[in-house]
Amino acid sequence: MGVMPIDDPTKLRSYSWFNGKEYYNFSRRANVRALGISRESFHGKPVIGICNSFSELNNCNAHLRQVADAVKRGVWAAGGFPLEFPVISLGEQYMKPTTMLFRNLMAMDVEESIRANPVDGVLLLCGCDKTTPAMLMGAASADIPAMIITGGPTLSGNYQGRTIGQGTDGRKIFDLYRMNQVSPEELQEIEGCMVRSAGHCTVMGTASTMAIVAEALGMSLPGSAAIPAPDARRMAFAELSGRRMVEMVREDLRPSKILTRQALENAITVDMAVGGSTNAVVHLLAIAGRTPHKLMLDDFDAISRRTPFLVNVRPSGQHMMEDFFFAGGVPAVMRELLPLLHRDCLTVNGKTIEDNVRDAPCHNRDVIRTRNQALFAEGGTVVLRGNLCPDGAVLKQTAASPHLCEHTGPAYVFESYQQMHDTIDCTDLPIDKDTVLVMKGCGPKGAPGFPEWGHIPMPKVLLERGISDCVRISDARMSGTSFGTVVLHVSPESSIGGPLAVVQTGDRITLSVANRTLHLDITNEELRRRAALLQPAAPHYTRGYGKLFLDHVTQAHLGCDFDFLQSE
Ligand code: FES
Repeated sequence: MGVMPIDDPTKLRSYSWFNGKEYYNFSRRANVRALGISRESFHGKPVIGICNSFSELNNCNAHLRQVADAVKRGVWAAGGFPLEFPVISLGEQYMKPTTMLFRNLMAMDVEESIRANPVDGVLLLCGCDKTTPAMLMGAASADIPAMIITGGPTLSGNYQGRTIGQGTDGRKIFDLYRMNQVSPEELQEIEGCMVRSAGHCTVMGTASTMAIVAEALGMSLPGSAAIPAPDARRMAFAELSGRRMVEMVREDLRPSKILTRQALENAITVDMAVGGSTNAVVHLLAIAGRTPHKLMLDDFDAISRRTPFLVNVRPSGQHMMEDFFFAGGVPAVMRELLPLLHRDCLTVNGKTIEDNVRDAPCHNRDVIRTRNQALFAEGGTVVLRGNLCPDGAVLKQTAASPHLCEHTGPAYVFESYQQMHDTIDCTDLPIDKDTVLVMKGCGPKGAPGFPEWGHIPMPKVLLERGISDCVRISDARMSGTSFGTVVLHVSPESSIGGPLAVVQTGDRITLSVANRTLHLDITNEELRRRAALLQPAAPHYTRGYGKLFLDHVTQAHLGCDFDFLQSE
């Protein structure tokens, strides 16, 4: 790729900002010069925005300024003029009550930062869970040439020679600590070797899943999603992305040409094959909502039923994201899936999915399976329906216990997260291995913000009996790094009067993954009688962004975007 001359600079979006005879044209040029840039370096060149979610409050994205430097090299080399700008960053580990409360705020920040500024194309630097979907949503709405560059997973954690991944293994280790089987000193040592570098979680959590989804959608360069954060090749790909963006501006290759209905279906197929996070369902619904191509929850289940689970990475499998990268990454998976994909979908490199992956090698068949040797015949996530979730719920079947996927048991109800938190380790909790734990008040409006509280910790009384999983149901989400037989995203949520709100301790609940059903065993009359007694809770916010969120967030089965941000 050489320097790409722009045939007609007057066609650039940025042209009207910097050219013309008005005072502000002159003034804006003077203010570019204020950056120490010579006129020769920017005049007439396409302005390439580098939208950066770097933040030290988000360790997963803490290296993105170095990534931005590599992008700039590429942009300069291809004849563009790079300008980096910040947007809000959403650090999964720190933000309260949950980053999900702010995903839409970040998407608005991305969209409006692009729209308001003189950029002809934009490279979106992200990584931690919500930052990737927020950037995809904002870019889809702004619709100028755009490309996602994720920061890559951290190096795998390692404790005394044993590979550990944050989230998945961290939770197991913490359960052992709760049982006094790991000492405080050991826990402190593990704390220092679990997250070994900047980058996102190194299992198939939400961040890895969304990086893979971005690549499967065609919104990032093929082969880029799984490169570990500190690997030199991540910088090289960033440089190539910067170069390519200058071409994309010339070609006017916008998200609206890439984010087609077929591309969205491809992304779901790949998500199912990698055993992706349940959060991908909410995010893909929201991304699709920014396009004319709406997705329904049932689209996910239909694709799940026909897509084999191929990628042996934790929490559904054994390996780490680093192993996935060494095995061939997303192109190797997509090559295996080609018969199930829409092959002609266009991607940011100007080629089709088929062009990109047709010859992709796989270097480790234990990590990336063939369709004939799939880990499971269906995809990772299933969609449930029933009188407990009329608008749907999801469950990650590849991370569930097979013996609990067909299960009937008595409910034990936590009316709130706080009640669960305060009582889960009580030694007299009246539950056994058949109990179905139910938690209310954790949905988009209820918690508020739809937090990742759905992975209710295993009660101590069960852990002490050697029971490591039980059926858990809530209207919350859960971290993509989590595992267990956990029903999530129950919709409508309990705080707006969904049927989950009427469940009482002792009610019998039946889960059937095979039939895709979740049933509360009470009569319709009784359900209506209980629903009529419900009292609406006071809103969590009466002003500010929180009020905007409560007034406009949609339910889980619609993607939790704001109603006024969806495409018309
Ligand atoms: Fe940022 Fe997991 S905490 S990706």
